[in-house]
Amino acid sequence: MCGIFGAISSEDVKKDLIEGLSKLEYRGYDSAGLSLITSASKIKRIRCTGKVKELKKLLLKSKSKGKCGIAHTRWATHGIPNLKNSHPHNSGPFSIVHNGIIENSEELKSSLLKKGYKFTSDTDSEVIAHLLTSCIKKNKDLLGTILSALDKLKGSFALAIIYDKYPDNIIVASNGSPLLIGISKNATYVASDIHALVSKTKKYIPLEDNELAIVSRGNVILYNKKGRKISRPPLVTKQIDKTTSKRGFKHYMQKEIFEQKDIISRVIKDRLGTKTILPNIFGPKSDVMLKSIKHVHFVACGTSYNASLIAKYWIEELSDIMCTAEIASEYRYRTINIPSDTLFVAISQSGETADTIYSLKKAKTSNYKAILSICNVPESTITRLSDYSYLMQAGVEISVASTKAFTSQLIALLLLSTILSRSSGKYSIEAEIVKQINSLPKILDKTFKLENDMKTMAKQFKNKHHTLFLGRGASYPIALEAALKLKEISYIHAEGYAAGELKHGPLALVDKDMPVVGLMPDNNLVNQVLSNLSEVKARHGLVYIFTNKKMKLKRNDKTKIIKMPACGHYIAPLVYVIPMQLLSYHVAIFKKTNIDQPRNLAKSVTVE
Ligand code: F6R
Repeated sequence: MCGIFGAISSEDVKKDLIEGLSKLEYRGYDSAGLSLITSASKIKRIRCTGKVKELKKLLLKSKSKGKCGIAHTRWATHGIPNLKNSHPHNSGPFSIVHNGIIENSEELKSSLLKKGYKFTSDTDSEVIAHLLTSCIKKNKDLLGTILSALDKLKGSFALAIIYDKYPDNIIVASNGSPLLIGISKNATYVASDIHALVSKTKKYIPLEDNELAIVSRGNVILYNKKGRKISRPPLVTKQIDKTTSKRGFKHYMQKEIFEQKDIISRVIKDRLGTKTILPNIFGPKSDVMLKSIKHVHFVACGTSYNASLIAKYWIEELSDIMCTAEIASEYRYRTINIPSDTLFVAISQSGETADTIYSLKKAKTSNYKAILSICNVPESTITRLSDYSYLMQAGVEISVASTKAFTSQLIALLLLSTILSRSSGKYSIEAEIVKQINSLPKILDKTFKLENDMKTMAKQFKNKHHTLFLGRGASYPIALEAALKLKEISYIHAEGYAAGELKHGPLALVDKDMPVVGLMPDNNLVNQVLSNLSEVKARHGLVYIFTNKKMKLKRNDKTKIIKMPACGHYIAPLVYVIPMQLLSYHVAIFKKTNIDQPRNLAKSVTVE
């Protein structure tokens, strides 16, 4: 993960570096640092543990200035989050920042140690700095040095390097980790993503794998890994600076939970007709392509993977199409059998998740009918690599715990499932699904009124160490998502299970201190879920049932029923996930955790 920002300008770049870095903090917030080349052609490095705001405080105290600099916000992979492991890493005349993982760092380190290089950190990145110093001794020129150092690196990297003998240049290189070069009239920037660039310039060049560039003010020279010059015109981004505020909410997560209704209303306006879905919402001529699909392979990570599991239930219920949903880190390394006419679908909020990108690249060289992505970030790597793409239009999601992206993915997936049902459909269902989606904004209004109940419930959860969430059918992935949200932001151990699996092992965990949440929309699985929950009650577990079915409890039954608004069968996962998000949020409030930036995590997972 980690975020990289660099700038060369006619003015001091400290302010630019801090601004750029703040926009990349979602990629990691374990430490922050920067290096400048001063007017005396010396490298000045300033680093701190913690967040970019801490670095800003240090800079206010420092008198150092520089017109060329690189900066980094870290998500620790090798070495704990502390000062010595913070980037930049220096060696002789070089200072570097790195995003990615150097797989052969131990091997390189031992050979550099033998040559007398001293290591001051536990990171894999520091080898790059020493390798450069070692290579510059053998090579006459900078390009030759960079090429021979890069040639020795195995793994993934986005790199920005400054060299005190070339005070007007930043050298950048990329392999498997994103890096973009932004070009404006008076300055050139490098950044891990487009958000960090748009307030500075619209013109940018994304580095491709195995490319490097020597960047100066207003100029970029691109090279391939053999050192041959490449020429590629810059792209022009359509994105605007989307600096977001909390708009009066206490946390971004809370704001994003409450934005879900408006996002769904926008989808209804932009993508639905009165009884049908509008044509080609998955990209030009996508309806024709989707007509020929016989199988679907979904690939995603985390919350996006949970969304894909629900789509599997929908697609197989609505059509004859066979569907698999797989975690990207598994998909990318295993042998896959691809039947003819299979659609590959990558789902990603950020569009930059490393495992999903690698899976998509693998899919592109396999025998798929087409590659479709469902993403929230336009012009992201995943969107750029796909044949067809659907933009979720959820707006920037800042909170590390994904909420509005999940429901936006679900809407996209319900629309995809419905379109796929057109040709192979067991029955015509489109008008009914459109009607159910249209009913969502009003139902969500009622669902948000459960917030006080969730606060009360959160109080009962705050001192628990373990929790179980259970569901059947499309509520099973909602149980997984509920558990993921709770553990992520409240650090309470939580698991989601298919309710029928309980007696195959997890029931052993249940005792009087274990809250067990049953997600039970009124459908054909109610009786089965109820019997699973009685197994919990018989072991003195604390049972909470979320349902829109009318239920009467026996006297002395300690079960808590949370009355959900009535809703259509297909939209139930979108409704039932809302109280789960609110519950996690309020448990985290009670536990006083860092809700928007939970420990050990980052918003965009750009390492495998
Ligand atoms: C959980 C969460 C993560 C992401 C996962 C995939 O709240 O946000 O599990 O869902 O890292 O990220 P994207 O969707 O950006 O590929």
